Amino acid sequence: MKLIVNGQERDLGDADPQMPLLWALRDMLGLTGTKYGCGVAQCGACTVHLDGMAVRACQIRIGDVAGDITTIEGLGTPADPHPVQAAWIEEQVAQCGYCQSGQIMSAAALLALNDDPTDEDIDRAMSANLCRCATYPRIRAAIRRARDIRRPPCPRPRGGAF
Ligand code: FES
Ligand code: FES
Repeated sequence: MKLIVNGQERDLGDADPQMPLLWALRDMLGLTGTKYGCGVAQCGACTVHLDGMAVRACQIRIGDVAGDITTIEGLGTPADPHPVQAAWIEEQVAQCGYCQSGQIMSAAALLALNDDPTDEDIDRAMSANLCRCATYPRIRAAIRRARDIRRPPCPRPRGGAF
């Protein structure tokens, strides 16, 4: 069985098609940035992208994956972070960090669909990602900052004294 993960074809051999994607990512492919929290679609720690949409990796069987998977390892790099990752660092969001890759993946999916989310949009999109450390105010601030990072710079006034 093969999956496309972070832009690369990965061979899972004769893995059981019933295996949750989360198990395959962490235990077979070593992509441990995606976390196991509840295992029952209640916490969002395992959030990855399937063709750009945020999904719960604990709830998808590898035999049912039809599309490209992106994990936190494939979102950006230290040299070229995704705007959400850059904003997370600027706002110093993480506390213990356990929930944060899932939070970032949900935030990135939100901004891909809606490049100017309101606070209400943010709360709705992020409501299923739980944080035991209650970093929610910093998460909201970082999403607002990422929204601004993504916006193209304002055009300079012609002939201005800049
Ligand atoms: S581990 Fe998947 S939602 Fe909690
Ligand atoms: S930062 Fe600790 S669970 Fe969210």
